[in-house]
Amino acid sequence: MQTSHYTIITGVSKGIGLATAQLLNEKGYTVAGWGRNAPAYTHPNFHFFSCDVSKLEQVNAAMEQTRKKLGEAVFGLINNAGFGHFGKLEDLPIEKWHAMFDTNVHGLMYCSRAVVPLLKAQQAGHIINISSIAGLNGIVQGSGYSATKFAVRGISHSLYAELREDGIKVSCVYPGSVATNFFDEVEGVTTNPNMLQPQDVALLLLQLLESSPNFLTVDVEIRPLQPKGKKS
Ligand SMILES: NC(=O)c1ccc[n+]([C@@H]2O[C@H](COP(=O)([O-])OP(=O)(O)OC[C@H]3O[C@@H](n4cnc5c(N)ncnc54)[C@H](OP(=O)(O)O)[C@@H]3O)[C@@H](O)[C@H]2O)c1
Repeated sequence: MQTSHYTIITGVSKGIGLATAQLLNEKGYTVAGWGRNAPAYTHPNFHFFSCDVSKLEQVNAAMEQTRKKLGEAVFGLINNAGFGHFGKLEDLPIEKWHAMFDTNVHGLMYCSRAVVPLLKAQQAGHIINISSIAGLNGIVQGSGYSATKFAVRGISHSLYAELREDGIKVSCVYPGSVATNFFDEVEGVTTNPNMLQPQDVALLLLQLLESSPNFLTVDVEIRPLQPKGKKS
């Protein structure tokens, strides 16, 4: 990745998205942050564009505004925006099921569709999709969330095969629990220091973006080492 290029990150108000924007800026890269809410963060190379990724017209407008401000030289797209609603299948309100798919799956697809033509024109670029270990294994009371993250895996693997010959990388990352606001609405789970830290996930994403042009990492599963803390 060259510093003359920029990276789009979705969901930059907090958590993994914000930590990644900050790290990329620190390393001299330009970031276009797309999100419903702007972060309380400013940097000369951080540009916020208001965008609910679940709305196709807002994604297309964000792409247009980003091109006007930053030009065509996009290198990275980190599809990070997402959330989970949890509950038993028969109890989870249908609107919550749909809302997760609208953002986690359809939003990711809208953003990728907006960016792929620019990457193809350059015959270079990197799309990184944030799935979850819930995209590898089912979880109790997480059927809807898990289904969206399995879908992210399916899109990622298909797109990787589709774009490989165009010199465009697609990677899928499967984090275990990360200490972010993700858990604010998850009953019975509070964040703790044994979870993965968003800054460490950001470092992984930077390393993926900086990998050699002919080096593609398809899947990365990441977990905390001692999730229950050190043995006493
Ligand atoms: N934390 C974990 O344990 C964990 C584990 C595996 C995977 N993940 C995945 O990691 C990603 C980031 O989550 P996080 O842990 O950083 O959680 P977070 O702190 O809650 O951040 C989520 C971000 O996504 C944004 N977002 C949600 N819906 C959006 C939409 N429709 N349009 C634009 N932005 C939207 C939120 O913005 P608003 O300010 O608008 O809400 C926020 O900036 C998610 O895809 C999540 O599923 C998280």
